[in-house]
Amino acid sequence: MKHLANEDRYNQFSYKRCGKSGLKLPPVSLGLWHNFGGVDPYERSVDIIHRAFDLGITHFDLANNYGPPYGSAEETFGKILKQNLAKYRDELIISTKAGYDMWPGPYGDFGSRKYLLSSLDQSLARMGLEYVDIFYSHRPDPETPIEETMGALDHAVRSGKALYAGISNYSAEQSKKAIEVLNSLGTPCLIHQPKYNMFDRWVEDGLLDVLESEGVGCIPFSPLAQGMLTNRYLKGIPADSRAAKAHFLKKESITSEILATISDLNKIAANRGQSLAQMALSWLLKDKRVTSVLIGASSVAQLEDSLKALKNIQFSNEELGLIEKCL
Ligand SMILES: NC(=O)c1ccc[n+]([C@@H]2O[C@H](COP(=O)([O-])OP(=O)(O)OC[C@H]3O[C@@H](n4cnc5c(N)ncnc54)[C@H](OP(=O)(O)O)[C@@H]3O)[C@@H](O)[C@H]2O)c1
Repeated sequence: MKHLANEDRYNQFSYKRCGKSGLKLPPVSLGLWHNFGGVDPYERSVDIIHRAFDLGITHFDLANNYGPPYGSAEETFGKILKQNLAKYRDELIISTKAGYDMWPGPYGDFGSRKYLLSSLDQSLARMGLEYVDIFYSHRPDPETPIEETMGALDHAVRSGKALYAGISNYSAEQSKKAIEVLNSLGTPCLIHQPKYNMFDRWVEDGLLDVLESEGVGCIPFSPLAQGMLTNRYLKGIPADSRAAKAHFLKKESITSEILATISDLNKIAANRGQSLAQMALSWLLKDKRVTSVLIGASSVAQLEDSLKALKNIQFSNEELGLIEKCL
């Protein structure tokens, strides 16, 4: 079954320039960390990807170890592309990363040239692609010289296996250095992917300023705090939720104190005519330094709900004050 994309898909919202680059991204992008692994229902994965593309989402984010099992999200995505979306390849921005543990032994983790470049070859094979649009160093490596890690990204771009280079989870200081090395190599850093949401605001202490002054884009991951900044847990822990799976989001994280905050935020969102998920995304997008928010979704309904955030990304001072008080 080939997918015939919605002809109106580019009239949904405007695309945002990524830093000083020539690339524009949708304000909401879709990540495949959860819900697209070999353990997840394939038809649901197909539905979510198709719906995202039909709604104007052109950017899909992966990593070598997304699944479970590791590698399987890239396989799922490759299959969907081949079966249904191959003719739209030039309309898609596909990213992948290497930096966390992927295979045993000394060459399957962190930031050596050996690991990054062989991992990229493996990712391309799993997705059936000739190139990815963005290749990231997934995390800084305290032992490998940053020149080697950035040199591997530069090589990936020069060899045509990636169009742009990105970094993820680098501190403000580490980012400055990485950006400088990439500039010296002639492959500017396109984008940084940090964790950023209402509950985790470390990027406000320097990183966002570095990215703005260097002209690098920013795509916050886990903008909904893995589902906590939604209505998902207001009435307990649903059996099909991420917290119930208790791997990356622990049930213990959903304390009565957090629930009280979520409930207060939910009321502010309702007064704005938004769901909490929508308000949490709008709150990030109000900052012009944020290029796109990188959401996850376990259903088409969640995706549709989250995308409606774009209808209102303005906040009054009073609303911002109330939110700060909750946080
Ligand atoms: N660079 C890195 O180190 C790194 C790390 C983590 C993530 N990421 C990237 O960021 C992407 C997003 O991360 P994330 O999945 O943690 O993002 P998130 O958007 O914070 O959380 C997604 C989860 O929230 C729930 N949800 C989403 N929309 C909802 C809605 N409208 N209403 C109610 N619940 C909703 C769903 O939980 P249920 O599954 O419970 O339904 C969904 O799986 C990843 O796929 C990956 O691409 C990168």
